[in-house]
Amino acid sequence: MHSRILGTGSHLPDKVLTNADLEKIVDTSDQWIRERTGIEERRIVADGESTVDLAESAARNALGAADIEPGDIDLIIVATTTPDRVFPSTACLLQQRLDIHGCPAFDVQAVCTGFIYATSVADSMIRSGAARTALVVGAECMSRIVDWSDRGTCVLFGDGAGAVVLGASDEPGLLSTRLHADGAYEKLLYVPYGVSSRPEKVRDGEAYLQMRGNEVFRVAVNTLGRIVDETLDDAGLHKSDIDWLIPHQANIRIINATARKLGMSLDRVVVTVDKHGNTSAASVPMALDAAVRDGRIQRGELLLMEAFGGGFTWGSVLARY
Ligand code: UT7
Repeated sequence: MHSRILGTGSHLPDKVLTNADLEKIVDTSDQWIRERTGIEERRIVADGESTVDLAESAARNALGAADIEPGDIDLIIVATTTPDRVFPSTACLLQQRLDIHGCPAFDVQAVCTGFIYATSVADSMIRSGAARTALVVGAECMSRIVDWSDRGTCVLFGDGAGAVVLGASDEPGLLSTRLHADGAYEKLLYVPYGVSSRPEKVRDGEAYLQMRGNEVFRVAVNTLGRIVDETLDDAGLHKSDIDWLIPHQANIRIINATARKLGMSLDRVVVTVDKHGNTSAASVPMALDAAVRDGRIQRGELLLMEAFGGGFTWGSVLARY
């Protein structure tokens, strides 16, 4: 038994925040942001809008594309760093929105690699027979944990959600998934406070994302190069076999470095960082959906998805679409 992608979906909040808007908030410039990151604009949730709202719209789009009714879903996994609440999980909140009852639903927390982790778990459960049709969502409101006075981070992140429906199949779809983490890198990218360690800081609204960007950048480039080789070896395939690279959208310079390592021309790389910024766990499924919907990605093509983020965590999914 294998799992394959039956359909994809995504959703962006309406509000656009441009680099010009950010010039009014912090000491930055459109030129610096474009040159150092490739970002032109990002979407930001409205007051009262939350992660499950984005997740629900993306999930409904994916269900529609897969031509699957909510009642056929027997597993829900939501990858998020910015859940609506401590509990119930965002996956349970989504399950309720979709009027699905009884199937397992849980969140996965692996920051920017969350969707890769969630997809790997769903794939394992389908291959073991524990599920037949899984809804896997990456959804984030990164704007809620960004310090809007820190120019080193606030220009980088955005909000959004992406989703896939995975179904059991006799034919191979997902060919290889690789997951890694190393908690020794905690201090390079983290939120310093949480509900059990410093609840007063959370209550006072001081639990913001912090990053030593330059050091994260160096580790990300090296690590993503390694995971590409590992994934291809695992599947017995070669760089030239890959039709589409769908990378985590953190920085165009990291994306370009990975594409160079693969010897891939940039027209085979899906880039959304210019319009989305870094949406953490939502970035890979939103990029996948963009290229499926505009017709670039065709059935039968070989896709390499990869991500790197806080933890550190990193991983990849190699899939025949
Ligand atoms: O998704 C999870 C993984 N995250 C990542 O992969 C992010 C990885 N890191 C990066 O993408 C890049 O390191 C950044 C985009 C965050 C920063 O780019 P950089 O080329 O590494 O810049 P830097 O941190 O070395 O800073 C260069 C200069 C500094 O000024 P000085 O010390 O040279 O005078 C910064 O203070 O740029 C300054 N700077 C800014 N200037 C204008 C930092 N942020 C800004 C800003 N606008 N927004």
